Amino acid sequence: MGTNPNEGVKTVVRRLTPADLERVILLDAKVTGRRRDGYFEAKLKENMAKAGIQVSLAAETGGIFSGFLLAKVWYGEFGTTEPVAVLDTIGAHPDFRGRGVGAALFEQLRTNLRGLGIAHIRTEVSWDAQSLMAFLHHERFRPAPRICLEADVEDPVLIERAARRAEAEEASEQAMSG
Ligand SMILES: CC(C)(COP(=O)(O)OP(=O)(O)OC[C@H]1O[C@@H](n2cnc3c(N)ncnc32)[C@H](O)[C@@H]1OP(=O)(O)O)[C@@H](O)C(=O)NCCC(=O)NCCS
Repeated sequence: MGTNPNEGVKTVVRRLTPADLERVILLDAKVTGRRRDGYFEAKLKENMAKAGIQVSLAAETGGIFSGFLLAKVWYGEFGTTEPVAVLDTIGAHPDFRGRGVGAALFEQLRTNLRGLGIAHIRTEVSWDAQSLMAFLHHERFRPAPRICLEADVEDPVLIERAARRAEAEEASEQAMSG
């Protein structure tokens, strides 16, 4: 697949395979400081399901596993009609940062997606991950015209609201029976 000569050492990008699981976990642990076995086992399984198109990639620099990108193709989720590539995780080994690994992964991803007729890549980034955000900005990611929302299932306002409803219901039942 793609090559990216940098300081004389070539970065080769290839497809990520289930055999890369341990390499992915180790690289991620280098980046985040903790092993996330369960997360990556589930993600690799999901992203490499035989039925789906496989777009996840691995980078090797001088034969060493130097980076990876986990992505999948979504069809028609969230009411969209066009397929979209969803990027779950990207990581470059700290020893290989700034040597074109991240750029080579994205370049190959874009090439592959173009071939598949997929026009957009979507991802979600933690607000705290400002450095990753800056890299994604450099890779021309921009805020999408959709808002990501979340709610706390233990939100006290909702609990209070439910209690008020239950009280009102009980009162109305008592009024009917009395
Ligand atoms: C973000 C990350 C993937 C970048 O990888 P990298 O291999 O160091 O980046 P590259 O060397 O390919 O850089 C490509 C371009 O992006 C720019 N760039 C790299 N990191 C950048 C950053 N943090 N902010 C702004 N620009 C950045 C480079 O200057 C370079 O620019 P150029 O093409 O104009 O020369 C890497 O730093 C990383 O893995 N960070 C941690 C990500 C993370 O937390 N992932 C979740 C857990 S795995």
